[in-house]
Amino acid sequence: MNPQTAEPETAQFARLAEFIDGLGLGHEPDERQAALIEVLHEAQEIFGYLPEDVQEFVAEKLRLPLGRVFGVISFYHYFTAEPRGKHQINCCLGTACFVRGAEKIIEQFEDTLGIKMGEVTPDKNFSLGTLRCVGACSLAPVVIVDGKTYGRVTPEQAAEIIAEYN
Ligand code: FES
Repeated sequence: MNPQTAEPETAQFARLAEFIDGLGLGHEPDERQAALIEVLHEAQEIFGYLPEDVQEFVAEKLRLPLGRVFGVISFYHYFTAEPRGKHQINCCLGTACFVRGAEKIIEQFEDTLGIKMGEVTPDKNFSLGTLRCVGACSLAPVVIVDGKTYGRVTPEQAAEIIAEYN
């Protein structure tokens, strides 16, 4: 059973297989390669992250080399091969946010949660990540938690934001 959801893993694989089959891909390698990002996106929606067995499954279904699947996952910041926490805290590290002290905010989140960037808390409640500019520079520095945007964040606010999700 996948620890991130209540759905049994076999049902998750069945959903992913159904999604891939539903794309009606032909035999052209280019066509299958073009569908890779969309498929990984769906896989991450279903599983919460992209562990090795999911990567292998995708490679096999799309008849692509495993290395290509892995390459896309490591290239795109959005994809993760590691499990994420229940709540994802992302600090923007774009130029405007960086200039307005994003690093200090990141440090404060790390200290308060007791983890480093890219890690998950031992209770699996939070994971910490960074983003490139999210297009809200006038609100810099910006932190996004599960899609909710916090603007003009100060290091002091880190604990308050965390408390909202505890
Ligand atoms: S740099 Fe952070 S929102 Fe643009």
